[in-house]
Amino acid sequence: MAKLVSAKDMLNKAREGKYAVGQFNINNLEWTKAILLTAQELNSPVILGVSEGAGKYMCGYTTIVGMVEGMLNELNITVPVALHLDHGSFEGAKACINAGFSSIMFDGSHYPIDENIAKTTELVNACNVLGISLEAEVGSIGGEEDGVVGAGECADPDECKSVADLGVTMLAAGIGNIHGKYPENWAGLSFDTLAAIKEKVGDMPLVLHGGTGIPAEMIKKAISLGVAKINVNTECQLAFAAATREYVEAGKDQQGKGFDPRKLLAPGFEAIKATVKEKMELFGSVNKA
Ligand code: 13P
Repeated sequence: MAKLVSAKDMLNKAREGKYAVGQFNINNLEWTKAILLTAQELNSPVILGVSEGAGKYMCGYTTIVGMVEGMLNELNITVPVALHLDHGSFEGAKACINAGFSSIMFDGSHYPIDENIAKTTELVNACNVLGISLEAEVGSIGGEEDGVVGAGECADPDECKSVADLGVTMLAAGIGNIHGKYPENWAGLSFDTLAAIKEKVGDMPLVLHGGTGIPAEMIKKAISLGVAKINVNTECQLAFAAATREYVEAGKDQQGKGFDPRKLLAPGFEAIKATVKEKMELFGSVNKA
């Protein structure tokens, strides 16, 4: 039986091999199936991200664990797959650990650094016992995702070191990145900040949030500076919505059995697959399973 794995080995391999593993956020069965099938076709490791809002939408964490584990078996998925809580609260992290997630992000970036450290430490201990990977965050990521709003600041490299030293698996650090679409006047990623963080935290795999819309050259440079995990959410949503709109606007839902959800959702499903493929190729994770 295929099993969910921690993200630790796949991210350490990625950092050493100078590529990044994609975290793609899931919203429902079609999303999950599209991402898993693409990872298998490309022989790529993959991380399925679940925000707390998406967790509620999909009927709770145990439902999600059941769905994903069922798919690993029914679809014969053999590439490494981690099921990861995205931007978890302290309570959400504990709930996902209990539900069977294989990876957790605790986003304590909005707490004062001492409180972030205390809460992260407690979770490091819980995750280590169970072999679950843990992502911590320093310096909030800008934009809005499922009600979690950040201002897009650059993390303080010394604070990054304090949190990395707690024994987390990977570290998300704000470097001017934001969730959602980037505004026209976006200044770009701060590579000086990224290099300074890398200098302090050494071999710790770094995580780049807000992967939607970052130009390919910036992605490649970020990977060369230690980014080993890149999160993508909005881009799959935009691709799904555009393909679904095209289907409906062409009147296809009114032709024959075009209203059948298995037909209606098919273009969006294929659009997610194409987006995930494009990202895996850009991140360099193809054939790295
Ligand atoms: P985007 O929605 O901008 O791709 O960001 C995803 C993300 O960082 C999830 O944590």
